[in-house]
Amino acid sequence: MHFNKEAGANQRLVASSYAGVSRRQAILEALSIEANHKIIDIGCGAGYLVKDLAKALGDQGRVYALDPSEDQLEEARIRCSSFPNVTFFNGFADNIALEDDSCDVVTSTQAYEYVKDVDKALAESTRVLKPGGSFVNVSILWDYFRFYGAEEKLNNLIHDAFRAHCYHQMLPMELDGKLRSLGYQHITNKSLSFLITRRDQNSPARHLETMVASFAVSQGISTSEVEEWRRQLTDAEACGRFGFTSYPVLTSAYLN
Ligand SMILES: C[S@@+](CC[C@H](N)C(=O)[O-])C[C@H]1O[C@@H](n2cnc3c(N)ncnc32)[C@H](O)[C@@H]1O
Repeated sequence: MHFNKEAGANQRLVASSYAGVSRRQAILEALSIEANHKIIDIGCGAGYLVKDLAKALGDQGRVYALDPSEDQLEEARIRCSSFPNVTFFNGFADNIALEDDSCDVVTSTQAYEYVKDVDKALAESTRVLKPGGSFVNVSILWDYFRFYGAEEKLNNLIHDAFRAHCYHQMLPMELDGKLRSLGYQHITNKSLSFLITRRDQNSPARHLETMVASFAVSQGISTSEVEEWRRQLTDAEACGRFGFTSYPVLTSAYLN
């Protein structure tokens, strides 16, 4: 999935909703930030976390914000325009334009699952991380990303089509081994899972439903089937039997 145009706009709505805010809180708690730290946010999107990090750092600190989507970076530049301690990179996770050992912290939120060669990308972030530096990643267990309330066969059709939206469905399960082989220790996982049973105005479930629906159409599911799925979810919500679950996992580790 490319986060340009409609998908990017929808992703930013999710990032500004409860789902994004609670994730950023968990990340900021997990990072032991010092004023002079150099921190890279890989797949920074529209820069919500970048702004929080820039605020937390002093003049000697710096946030490197990397993303391959110019649409996302443009939003990030606007969001962070009053912070001179941010450097933006239009680039990919597997080729970071920084020297070896140049960061105290590597962080990434829901980006590595979109990187085809995730091993190469993790090796690249390890290259730029100083020994003793910390790695904090949030990725989703996509098998548990699910809407409830629509008829089962139709619901499965839509969710099965959505699986193609990223390369790695269950990355948090694989990170422990991958990080250990790169020399990390003290690897811990924290669940940031949530359940939504109603969709109010800025509910992530509302924005994610739009994203799933439009991706399903792009995968060849008919518009009428997708519209029927959405209608059934709306009916389910009216009857008090709608549900949406997501299972983000925050993984922290330290480089030896
Ligand atoms: C779901 S968004 C998350 C954005 C942001 N981290 C947030 O939490 O709001 C995924 C981001 O990963 C970026 N991305 C996709 N492939 C990437 C790659 N190979 N390297 C770095 N970033 C990538 C996308 O452009 C997109 O902005």
